[in-house]
Amino acid sequence: MSTRAVPVAVATPYDVHVGPGALGLAATVLAGRRRVAIVSQAAIADRYLDAVRSGLGECEVFLMGDGEEAKSLATVEHLCRGFAAWGLLRGDAVLALGGGVVGDTAGFAASVYYRGVDVVQAPTTLLAQVDAAIGGKTAVNIPEGKNLVGAFHQPIAVLADTSTLASLPDREYRGGLGEVAKYALLADPATEQGGINALLREHTGAVLARDPGILGDLVAHCAGMKAGVVAADPHERTGVRATLNLGHTLAHALETTGGYGLTHGEAVAIGLVFAGELTGACERVGLDTVDRYQALPASLGLPTAVPGGEALRAEDLLAVMRRDKKAAGGLTFVLPGPDGVTLVDDPPPAALAHAFAAVGVGG
Ligand SMILES: NC(=O)c1ccc[n+]([C@@H]2O[C@H](COP(=O)([O-])OP(=O)(O)OC[C@H]3O[C@@H](n4cnc5c(N)ncnc54)[C@H](O)[C@@H]3O)[C@@H](O)[C@H]2O)c1
Repeated sequence: MSTRAVPVAVATPYDVHVGPGALGLAATVLAGRRRVAIVSQAAIADRYLDAVRSGLGECEVFLMGDGEEAKSLATVEHLCRGFAAWGLLRGDAVLALGGGVVGDTAGFAASVYYRGVDVVQAPTTLLAQVDAAIGGKTAVNIPEGKNLVGAFHQPIAVLADTSTLASLPDREYRGGLGEVAKYALLADPATEQGGINALLREHTGAVLARDPGILGDLVAHCAGMKAGVVAADPHERTGVRATLNLGHTLAHALETTGGYGLTHGEAVAIGLVFAGELTGACERVGLDTVDRYQALPASLGLPTAVPGGEALRAEDLLAVMRRDKKAAGGLTFVLPGPDGVTLVDDPPPAALAHAFAAVGVGG
C-alpha cells in the first residue's frame, strides 16, 4: 500500500487518503466502531467489497441502484430503514463505496439518520475522487430538480483508492478528466510550480492511459485544490467555493435541456471552452487564456463543442441558466479575469452570442 494524506482543514479536520490500497485503510479510520453500514452498488461491491471490509468489525452491505434515478428520497428511506432494521446506532458509521451517486445518497442518508452519523467516503470514480467525495456536500434529486434536497455533512475520512480507477468504463474516466481540466484552469499558473498543469502537459499520455504511477499525483493535486477551497468556504457563503463551478453554468443547462449524450465531465469540458470564449469576448483576458481554455480539454480527448449544437437555441439554454439554483435571479458565470477566477453577473448579449457560437450552439 502506498498512500498519502491530503488534509481538509474544516471545523472537524479529516484526511483524503490517496493512492493504491487506500480502501485497506477503512479498518484504521473506523477503528473502535461497533458497526459499519457499507452502501454500494452491485457491480462495485463485487469488485471492491473485500478490500474495504478486510479488518473491519461487524459490517453489513446495503446495495442501491445505478444512475441519477437511484439518487432519490426513496433510496434514502430504503437505506435508513435498512440501517434501523439492522440496528445501526448513533455512534456507528456509514461507508459509501462507489461513485458520486453512491457518495451523495449515502452521505445524505448518514446526515439525517439519527440526526447524523459519521460517514467515510470511499470514491471509486475519478470524478468522485477529485470532487464529489470531498467537502461534505450531499444531496438527492427530486422531480423538480437535481440535488435539490441535501445537507452539508463532512466525512470523517475519504479513501481515494486510485487502483479502483482501472475498472472504470472509458467514458466515465474521461468524464472525470473534465473536472481535472477545471482544476488545472483554476490553478494559478504563476505559482503552481510542478503542479497539476505541468503534470497534464508533461504526462498527457500517461494520464490518458491511467498510468498507476501518475494517478496518485493527479488525484492528490486535485484533492488538494478542492480541500483548499472547501476549507476557505465550507458552506459556499463567500463566493470562494462557487469558483469550483467554473464551466458548470453551461454544463448544467446542457444537462437540464436534454444531455445531448454527454457525460457530466464532457459537458463541463464544453462549459470550460464556453467560459474562455465568453470572458475573452468581455475583454477580461487575452487570447492566450481563451486558447488555453480550449486546448486543455481538447488535449485530454474531451469535446469542445456541443454535438448537434446547431439545432439548439442559445435563448433556451439562457432561460435554464437563469433558473439555476446557484444564480441569484440574473445570469451568473464563473470566469477568469484580471483578478483570477471570479463570479461575473450578466455579461453583454454580444459576448454571450459569441461564446455560444464558439461551442457550436445555434446555426
Ligand atoms: N457532492 C458533490 O460535491 C458532488 C460534486 C460533483 C458531482 N456530484 C454528483 O456525483 C454524481 C456523479 O458521480 P459519478 O460521475 O461518480 O457517477 P456514478 O456514481 O453514477 O458512477 C458512474 C458509473 O460507474 C460505475 N462505477 C463506479 N466506480 C466504478 C469502478 N471503479 N469500476 C467500474 N465501474 C464503476 C457506477 O456503478 C456507475 O454506473 C452526480 O449525481 C453529481 O451530482 C456531487
